[in-house]
Amino acid sequence: MARHLITSAIPYINGIKHLGNLVGSQLPADLFARYLRGRGHEVLFLCATDEHGTPAELAAAKAGKPVAEYCAEMWQVQKDLSDGFGLSFDHFGRSSSPQNHRLTQHFADRLHAAGLIEEVTEKQVYSNADGRFLPDRYIEGTCPNCGYEKARGDQCENCTMQLDPVDLIDPRSAISGSTDLEVRETRHLYLRQSQMRGKLSDWIGSKTDWPVLTTSIARKWLNDGDGLQDRGITRDLDWGIPVRHEDGSPWEGMEGKVFYVWFDAPIEYIACGAEWSEAQGLEAAAWERWWREDKGAGDVTYTQFMGKDNVPFHALSFPATLMGSGEPWKLVDYIKSFNYLNYDGGQFSTSQGRGVFMDQALDILPADYWRWWLLSHAPENSDAEFTWENFQMNVNKDLADVLGNFVSRVTKFCRSKYGLTVPEGGAPGPREEALIGRLATRIRGYEAHMDAIEVRKAAAALRAIWVEGNEYLQEAAPWATFKQDPETAAMQIRLALNLVRLYAVLSAPFIPDAAAAMLGAMNTDDDAWPDDVLAALSALPPGHGFEVPEVLFAKITDDAREDWQARFAGQRGA
Ligand code: MF3
Ligand code: ZN
Repeated sequence: MARHLITSAIPYINGIKHLGNLVGSQLPADLFARYLRGRGHEVLFLCATDEHGTPAELAAAKAGKPVAEYCAEMWQVQKDLSDGFGLSFDHFGRSSSPQNHRLTQHFADRLHAAGLIEEVTEKQVYSNADGRFLPDRYIEGTCPNCGYEKARGDQCENCTMQLDPVDLIDPRSAISGSTDLEVRETRHLYLRQSQMRGKLSDWIGSKTDWPVLTTSIARKWLNDGDGLQDRGITRDLDWGIPVRHEDGSPWEGMEGKVFYVWFDAPIEYIACGAEWSEAQGLEAAAWERWWREDKGAGDVTYTQFMGKDNVPFHALSFPATLMGSGEPWKLVDYIKSFNYLNYDGGQFSTSQGRGVFMDQALDILPADYWRWWLLSHAPENSDAEFTWENFQMNVNKDLADVLGNFVSRVTKFCRSKYGLTVPEGGAPGPREEALIGRLATRIRGYEAHMDAIEVRKAAAALRAIWVEGNEYLQEAAPWATFKQDPETAAMQIRLALNLVRLYAVLSAPFIPDAAAAMLGAMNTDDDAWPDDVLAALSALPPGHGFEVPEVLFAKITDDAREDWQARFAGQRGA
């Protein structure tokens, strides 16, 4: 049994996430967490809302609410939706928590003591029309790197380059659209990331097992990009973590300023651990055991999940904060990153309300349908695309025809011939032995893909395990065997009923609700992982009672698909 710390990139508080966001971090993180728990490992799976910075302020202003109130409400909305999707976080925290305030100020103090913070008089864009500075997303313009016209002041969505608002070409205010802007001087704290280039480069160089997507982005920004330029970690904003020392004393010259959201957001991963132990009524030592090498985190494996645009912050900036502190914080062991999921010939877009959003998805279908499609099409090696036709086809084929149909045929046939208990029957024959051999090979393959977080390959391996059951049933044809040889048919059905339990256990990381329904119908809470496949297939002994479950997966009709296609063709309403 090993210990696994898992974090998903923490979603911005401003609004409901779309399915592209979901499949790029939270959902695969949940898959991995559920799998590792299923294998008997100790897991701490953390996520939170990312509440500071200009996106939150802009969204609150649009909603006409004080930002703290807006964030509290949206946290609940996001929490309910993550529950709806079955995201099994041990804690869903908030980057605005007191724990994060304290830790963020702590890191700033430590970095300062290590000589890694510098006070810089910098030039910031000031809007005369708005009467304020315009940091980060308060400003938009053309990306100097790739020419994308809607680049934001903090990062270009198109090429992932981290930006400074003064770099933008043809800048305009995101509040008023005004171009009456000027550059004014203001003082800020800078993190001297450039001092850590050597250390970071060695560390990233040692990560030879990371996915290519992750290392290619990390190396790009490390070597020829601007990823390790010294960066301002404070802002002229009202909402955020005040720039103060951990003991509460003022930081001279920084009064009225807050830390930059990208400085405090990753620190929330740690603070979320502290929120978790407080919520559980545990000692501080409980979370330090996951996060401090000197407090027992030495044997923890830490895996992060995120979209590709987040890689520079997790592979460079956050490690710089942790290493720079001079304290033994747990560093990430593996960064799993994702490309983008597109929507029906274009991009999912929050700002344009394009695509399917988490609340809408759950309004039309149960979570497992989405989980299965999204995970089996995770944008791992390239961008992927959601189309309604493909969604309909895959759900109907994989979930309804293959898995759902197997469960329904087996349980109904048994009910009609032997009643609602597992029949006894004779001894397994060569066909059964061959099946068990193939299943064992396939299950070990499935585990290998899951261990390597190869999400699509794992989904394909699981589907192949389901198919084995259907093919076996087709060949063994117990409904035909029954007429001459009810003993053998009973043995076949006993095996098939045990396969239902086995499938529930193996499938739970992908489709937890259906898996629970299958275990429920099999009247068992034995969800032990099939380390020994032969043994696992006798978990339900003769005489064990079961039920025929409700239809596990209803097929998506052409009418429903066309209806949704039309409904989600335009922009999301207000
Ligand atoms: N909110 C950011 C996004 O959705 C992710 C923040 S991840 C963290 O892109 F590391 F900063 F917490
Ligand atoms: Zn760009």
